[in-house]
This record gives sequence, structure tokens and C-alpha cells, in this order.
Amino acid sequence: MAKPRIQFICQACGNVTSRWAGKCEACGEWNTLVEEGTAGGIGSGPASMRSTRKGRAVVLTSLSGEIEDAPRIASGIGELDRATGGGFVRGSALLVGGDPGIGKSTLLTQAAAALASRGHRIVYVSGEEAVAQIRLRAQRLGVANSTVELAAETNVEDILATIADGKRPDLVILDSIQTLWTDAADSAPGTVTQVRSAAQTMIRYAKSTGAAIVLVGHVTKEGQIAGPRVVEHMVDAVLYFEGEGGHHYRILRTVKNRFGPTDEIGVFEMSDKGLREVSNPSELFLGERHATAPGAAVFAGMEGTRPVLVEIQALVAPTSLGTPRRAVVGWDGARLAMVLAVLEAHCGLRFGTHDVYLNVAGGYRISEPAADLAVAAALVSSLTGLALPADCVYFGEISLSGAIRPVAHAQQRLKEAEKLGFGQAVLPRGSEEPGSGIGAASFQPATLTDLVVRIAGSLRRDADD
Ligand code: TYD
Ligand code: MG
Repeated sequence: MAKPRIQFICQACGNVTSRWAGKCEACGEWNTLVEEGTAGGIGSGPASMRSTRKGRAVVLTSLSGEIEDAPRIASGIGELDRATGGGFVRGSALLVGGDPGIGKSTLLTQAAAALASRGHRIVYVSGEEAVAQIRLRAQRLGVANSTVELAAETNVEDILATIADGKRPDLVILDSIQTLWTDAADSAPGTVTQVRSAAQTMIRYAKSTGAAIVLVGHVTKEGQIAGPRVVEHMVDAVLYFEGEGGHHYRILRTVKNRFGPTDEIGVFEMSDKGLREVSNPSELFLGERHATAPGAAVFAGMEGTRPVLVEIQALVAPTSLGTPRRAVVGWDGARLAMVLAVLEAHCGLRFGTHDVYLNVAGGYRISEPAADLAVAAALVSSLTGLALPADCVYFGEISLSGAIRPVAHAQQRLKEAEKLGFGQAVLPRGSEEPGSGIGAASFQPATLTDLVVRIAGSLRRDADD
């Protein structure tokens, strides 16, 4: 057997080096290298078996052939099933990441109770909280009578021995992956080696028995599943549970899904009795709107297959600094710089002596380029002090030439806006033919200048009235 060697593993990216350094040469993070022995580590597991075991031939097959739909167990919590793509998949591993305190344990307790009430065997293993704490939460959620089987345990071998008892569980929840440790690795719990080998053991269990497993992972401030990002690559699906401080709603976002779409979100609201589903997020995000103030534009966005309307707020104010401030919450700062540059270069507007603040209302986060047009409208509105029409939605991508480019799902965005009582829309030309109703009352600018002229023109129209 090889002599145990000392190695240093980066806790952020999993890079292995033989010498310690202050900075990881692979990912550039500081102070992330931790000494871990290789004896019994997962690196030496399969390799050391090689000498004792001869390879077994597997049957090669073709790409075509029978396909079965992934066997799913739906929880009945609509927003959760939407994010997972229709329910937990048997024999798969799902990672639920999120900041501490965001509500991961709450969500999974509710899901466990919902599934148990449908007759599934659910095991909830907590390595973070004592049984009494979990019971308290269950009481608060009103699910204390559910048949969920509970354990407070952190050793993977003990967990496997426990759930091997009796009928195979349909779902095993491990809260959290950072507290698990296995006898097979000799590093401290929470290190990359431990987390990785514990996750691997549990994933192997899921694949071999057909039980679904859910791993809970805490996320660091930088937005990574703390330390072991490596787990993301091993599991079949990754969901992030996120929310903005001070806001009650939470978004369950699909980051990776081998069995379904990756752009879905589930929206929840945290109440004193647990998480409540929000089936119409637009109403939530538009809830506190003051329509008449300048600098606000409603963006008709899409999250996966679902349209979501949010308000974009801009404040353009004269600066007292040499270099004006650009601050963005909920959108991409580089994209804001681009929209500002296009407004300056092609529309003759000047932001050089102004601070620009941009906020997506309700703490929501937008990643779609289709928000460009709504952002531009809000910026122009704030700069000119002219309020935009309260019943108008905006969407469209702006190119560097100032042209407005079509975006997908125009019909769905319009339909959602109409449903929520909006009467007009500003959208790109060449999107699918706008139909009746709000589509007929739409304005389709070819360039950003057309939109600026229209907003400025509203002043003249008001004066004429
Ligand atoms: P928790 O599920 O423990 O978070 P995580 O597992 O992600 O760390 O949720 C903790 C927070 O949720 C805590 O601040 C209290 C709050 N909460 C409610 O507001 N209502 C509830 O019904 C429950 C159970 C928790
Ligand atoms: Mg928790």
C-alpha cells in the first residue's frame, strides 16, 4: 500500500497541491488551502481497489431505443414541483443551496410532510439541529402529525445502516451536506474531501436503490455552495433558494437539472406558519407600486416558461463627485453601463454629470437582456423628470448600434401584462405579430431614439391637452 501523503486541497475549488500556499493557484482564492491526508481519501478509494479486482465488461448499446420518462414523485407543492421539473426523480440526487436562515430546512420539512401524507416513506436526517428543534419547527408548520421519519445524525455509514432498515425510503433528506462525514475519509467534516466522499456515498446509494436524495448545502457570501462547489458537478440537479434581506418572499431557482428545464423558478412567501406558495409572482413584485413618479418602468420578463412583471426604478441625479456613481441592485452593472453608453452615443442624452442608481423593485434579480428597453425607459424618464404612462410595459434588447432587437415569448409577456390590467406596451419590431387588446395598443420603436423621442414627446402632448 502506498505511504500516506500529505496534500493540500483548496476548499473553494477542490484543486490539489503538494505544497501550502496563501493563494490557490487554480481559482485565486486566498486562505482556502487545507491540509488533508490521502490515506483513505476518495482519491485512493477506487485506485487501491484496482489491484484486487478485475474489470467487468459492460454491455455497449446504441443511442436510439426505448426511453422511459424519469420516474418522479411529486410533492403537491406546485412551486417546488415546478422548480424540480415535475417532482423529485427517483434514484437521483438533488442539491438545495442557499444562505443560512433563508428557509431551506423549512421548505424541505414542508415537502417531506406533503410527500409523507401521500403515502411515501420519507426520512429526514439533520446534522445541524437536534430532534427537539426539528419537532418545534414541524409544530410551527402544522405538520407534527406527519409520518416523516426523523434522525439527528452526521455519520454517513450510520445513516445508511439506519435507512437500510425496513422498506426502501422514497426520499432521503440530508440537512446539511457540510455536516456529513464518512469513515472512508480521514479529514475533518466540512472539508472538501469529506463533503465529496459523503456526497458520493449517498449518490451511489440513490443510484443503486432508486431512492431520491436531497442534499442541503449552505452558500457562502460569495454565492458558492460553501467550500465544496465540487458537489454541484456530482448531483443531478441543483436548486438555489434565495431571497433578499428584508423581503418575505423567496425564490427557488433551478441552476442545473439533468431531468428538466433549468430556467424555472418557484416563488414562495415566508410567513409565520412556514412558506406559502406564490402562484402569481407579478402581483407580488408590482404590489407596492407608485405609478406616477418619474423613473419607474414595468418590465415584462420571463422566468423559464412563466412571465413575471417587475418594476424597474431609476434615479438620475446631478453628482457632486468627480466621477459620477453608478449603482445597480438586481441587474447587471455592465449592462447598465452599456445602456447608458448607447443613450449617450445615439440619443444625445448626457449622464456624465449625473449619478445613476438602478433598482429592481422588491429585491428581485433579472438576468434577461430583454430588460434593456425597460431600463432605458426608466433612465430617460428619471433624467427628464417625465413620468411614464402607468399602464405600459416594456421589453426588448438594445444593441450597441441603438437598434432594438426582438426577444422571445412576446405573446406570453403581453398576455400576462393584459391579465394584470396593463393597457399598452413598448416592444421590439419583428417580434411575433402582436394580436388584439394590448398588442394593438403597442408601440414598436426601431431604435432607442424613437423611444426617447416618444417619452420627450409626452411632455408636448401634455401641454397640448
Ligand atoms: P430555516 O428553514 O431554518 O433556514 P435554513 O435551513 O435555510 O438555514 O429557516 C429559518 C428562518 O425562517 C428563521 O429566521 C425563522 C424563519 N421562519 C419563519 O419565518 N416562519 C416559519 O414558519 C419558520 C419555520 C421559520
Ligand atoms: Mg437549516
